[in-house]
Amino acid sequence: MVENPPPASKPESALPAAITPALLGWYDRHARDLPWRRQPGSGRADPYRVWLSEIMLQQTTVEAVKPYYARFLAAWPDIGALAAAEDGAVLAAWAGLGYYARARNLLACARQVAGAGGRFPGTEAGLRALPGIGAYTAAAIAAIAFGARAAVIDGNVERVMARLLALETPLPTAKPTIRAALEPLVPADRPGDFAQAMMDLGATLCTPRAPACGRCPLAFACRAGRGADPAGFPRKAPRGPRPVRHGIAYLCRDAAGRVLLGTRPARGLLGGMAEIPNSGWAPGAPPAAVPPLAAHWQRHPAGISHVFTHFELRLAIETARVGRVAPPPGLRWVAAEALDAEPLPTLFRKVIAATG
Ligand code: ADE
Repeated sequence: MVENPPPASKPESALPAAITPALLGWYDRHARDLPWRRQPGSGRADPYRVWLSEIMLQQTTVEAVKPYYARFLAAWPDIGALAAAEDGAVLAAWAGLGYYARARNLLACARQVAGAGGRFPGTEAGLRALPGIGAYTAAAIAAIAFGARAAVIDGNVERVMARLLALETPLPTAKPTIRAALEPLVPADRPGDFAQAMMDLGATLCTPRAPACGRCPLAFACRAGRGADPAGFPRKAPRGPRPVRHGIAYLCRDAAGRVLLGTRPARGLLGGMAEIPNSGWAPGAPPAAVPPLAAHWQRHPAGISHVFTHFELRLAIETARVGRVAPPPGLRWVAAEALDAEPLPTLFRKVIAATG
């Protein structure tokens, strides 16, 4: 373990080395009992289980993931079983976890690993090369399943670190400072427990709005905790107005009341999910009209607005009713009663709702 230099020469971003044993001691007593975990201190977990849980936990809460994780393990107990599964069965078991692209990547990854002998690579770089595994997930699997001394930084960890350091720089600009301060704290003997201890601290004590500083094992080292408003960290970057993008949705019903749907490309925003045919919504130029089939299209008086993280989307709506015609290539007719079961994002459900 790398020792921090003595306090006199400490850069602003250096934290006391005593944080590591304090955090691990707390974790030994308070670790959350999660189905994909081993007991604290009992060594490495099965890479397949760690990988599966980490992919599920991207963008989804621990509580929401638990039943899915149990069902997946029961159906596909190891990487070989998952690699051999039918796409449809895996996508169906995933339904409700959101982001279909993640489920598709999960399968692609399982097949790649199984095809290469069934063992996950044990390094961050090797893991990152696999489908669906980004920097955070690679570090988490390397640390938890392989004992690699990786710094695992998710949103919870960023918040804990921004408070320990009382960082005035907002995220994401502060990320390199956070990484530089965290790396020397990661212990060579328990990197996986350290990572999960950080996550648990962020999830249970160092929460976004009401941190429980009185019970925090790191209070002795926390610069924000000494101030009047620890919850004021991380600092928020002043937000410019959210840009607005425009598009056109083409809501087509046939004589039987069925709705014309497509499927979004596997990659990118709402990847792999269902969609109402549309013009796209590239920034800048007004959308070009690209109706999915020739019909008497009418502009609906209502449009919809939907807020994504980085932009607001305003969709105008064109409607048409056609007879019983074959769907154009790549599109399909879906009965009104079957729409609920479609992986149709809220944005497009708003379009249907707006037209009654
Ligand atoms: N969130 C993502 N991965 C996690 C883990 N291993 N433990 C707790 N929360 C998590």
